[in-house]
Amino acid sequence: MGSIVDYNLTEELEHGIYVSSLVRELGRELLLDEQVVYQLQVAGMLHDIGKLRLTNYLYGNEEIVSPLVVEEMKYVRMHPMLSYEILRDRGYSSLILESVRYHHEDCDGTGFPSNLVGDEIPLGARIIRVCDVFAALTSDRPYRKRFDISEAISLMIDEITHFDMKIFLAFERVVHRAGTSYHIQLAENDAELLEKYSIDGQFYEAVKEHCARIG
Ligand SMILES: [Fe+2]
Repeated sequence: MGSIVDYNLTEELEHGIYVSSLVRELGRELLLDEQVVYQLQVAGMLHDIGKLRLTNYLYGNEEIVSPLVVEEMKYVRMHPMLSYEILRDRGYSSLILESVRYHHEDCDGTGFPSNLVGDEIPLGARIIRVCDVFAALTSDRPYRKRFDISEAISLMIDEITHFDMKIFLAFERVVHRAGTSYHIQLAENDAELLEKYSIDGQFYEAVKEHCARIG
């Protein structure tokens, strides 16, 4: 495995674990079936897996590319479909596939790749959207420090037309109940991450293997 893959693997795994744990709480708040919640957690974990392939397409394994550069590329809009294709080829459920494929759709029709509106966006994708944005805002980025929870929520309210209102309100309840415990701290090693975010080892190993194989 090249260094670029190692680098992105860590970034993506941390983000995936964070989103996945938010999805679990939100899914339960919405009283979804536990089986559905688990599948959405898998989708939350793997939704950006296409970025790894995208990075390798453009730069190969040799160069080190910062996540910021990858984020800014116009090709970033390809990643939900790449994620979808990777998971489809590995036989993931249709619930997981549609949640991943549409995770950048916004309820007002301004998202990508399909400009879906409101209920046209699959429920799982609407759930992941809220968790993904919140996770990104409350995590450090190369170009900025993380926002605290109330700042993140008010930034999301500024763009409220992106989100499903019922899901957003449920998410606010989850966040307020959890207080500051959703501030992510970068763990020293995988075991700490696992313990901290309650993702079982088998699941995590499977994710790691998938990431390594497509690198
Ligand atoms: Fe994404």
